[in-house]
Amino acid sequence: MQNLSTLLESIPPSATVAVMNRAKALQAAGEDVILLAGGDPDFDTPVHIQDAAIAAIRAGNTHYPAPSKGTREAVEAIGAKFEQDTGIAVNPNTQIIVTPSGKWALSLALGAMLNAGDEVLYFEPVWVSYPPLIRLNGGVPVAVALDGEKGWEISADLIRNKITPRTKAIMVTTPSNPTGRVLTQNEVAAIVAVALEHDLYVITDEIYEKLIFDGRKHIPLASQAGMAERTVTVNGMSKGYAMTGWRLGWLVAPEPIARLAAILHSQTLTAASSFGMVAIVAALQGSQAATVQMRESYQARRDYMVAALNTIDGIECPSIEGAFYLFPRFTKTRKNSVEIAEYLLEEAMVAGTPGSAFGKAGEGYIRFAISTAMRDLERAVERLARVVPTME
Ligand SMILES: Cc1ncc(COP(=O)(O)O)c(C=O)c1O
Repeated sequence: MQNLSTLLESIPPSATVAVMNRAKALQAAGEDVILLAGGDPDFDTPVHIQDAAIAAIRAGNTHYPAPSKGTREAVEAIGAKFEQDTGIAVNPNTQIIVTPSGKWALSLALGAMLNAGDEVLYFEPVWVSYPPLIRLNGGVPVAVALDGEKGWEISADLIRNKITPRTKAIMVTTPSNPTGRVLTQNEVAAIVAVALEHDLYVITDEIYEKLIFDGRKHIPLASQAGMAERTVTVNGMSKGYAMTGWRLGWLVAPEPIARLAAILHSQTLTAASSFGMVAIVAALQGSQAATVQMRESYQARRDYMVAALNTIDGIECPSIEGAFYLFPRFTKTRKNSVEIAEYLLEEAMVAGTPGSAFGKAGEGYIRFAISTAMRDLERAVERLARVVPTME
């Protein structure tokens, strides 16, 4: 038999999936595992969004959507949101693609930009899928390592140190998975300065934008002077509207990028689901009360968990500004983060994700998702307090 794809053979399976699989196997064996390793809200999709999609199906809206890039209603709703958020006018017909998932929007953006060997910068700790997505689209992932001791702060110099003649784009996530950091105006200015200096594209993943705490403001990268023509904004339904299973996202891009992304989209997945597009319109144009409630609930869980984890000897847990992950450091152990995650799973039946899954900069850290009922978070804290102080 001939060999198979060496590119795919070289991409390791996601470490987040590996921990979840082990945890689920333990659960299947009857163990009381508390799952803090996933990225899925514990809320159901708000009922008015469910109803809109069900009504669309019942009305026969079950055919290929037209245009395949997104129905007029969906792209106009997304365009209106984008204009309101950024103050930048967009042409919904030529600059927006509705995608089956934010992840696919990221992939389309990379596919539209990259030629073989082009380098793409990203900030580490990074969401696990960025480096593989860059490689799958022919690019070379280049990490800009951030320092947890310095609050994962981004500076222009850190980015400049990684620029080469092959640098094509920077990927940004705000709020960040896994660190929960939200970019400050200074950090945004640093990214913008380097992008303009070196004529780089920016892919900004704003999928957690609805989940920002303490009244802090989200700064869309595309809103900054000189950025609209070089920025692809990726967003989606999964996190802010508790719609992970629906697989719905979008990108807003300058026309030349959107045109190529549309070719890749139509030759691969064709379109997002027809009734999914109806759900997007219902979500963006309907009541935001459920999203606000979810945000408030995550904020309350954050308040509880950060305070509780910091009382445990051996855990240092900075607060977070957005998203639904805590990223504490384990300060008194010689174990690496994979060994820590294994230990917590075996000894406390608490499943977290090893920080090294998010790149070398995440070594020594564990990511805990707080998209889990408060009662389970309390039980997790009780168990961690029992095993962490004596962990070698
Ligand atoms: C930073 C980030 N971007 C994108 C996604 C993808 O979301 P989806 O593909 O569900 O839209 C996730 C999901 O975990 C994420 O954490």
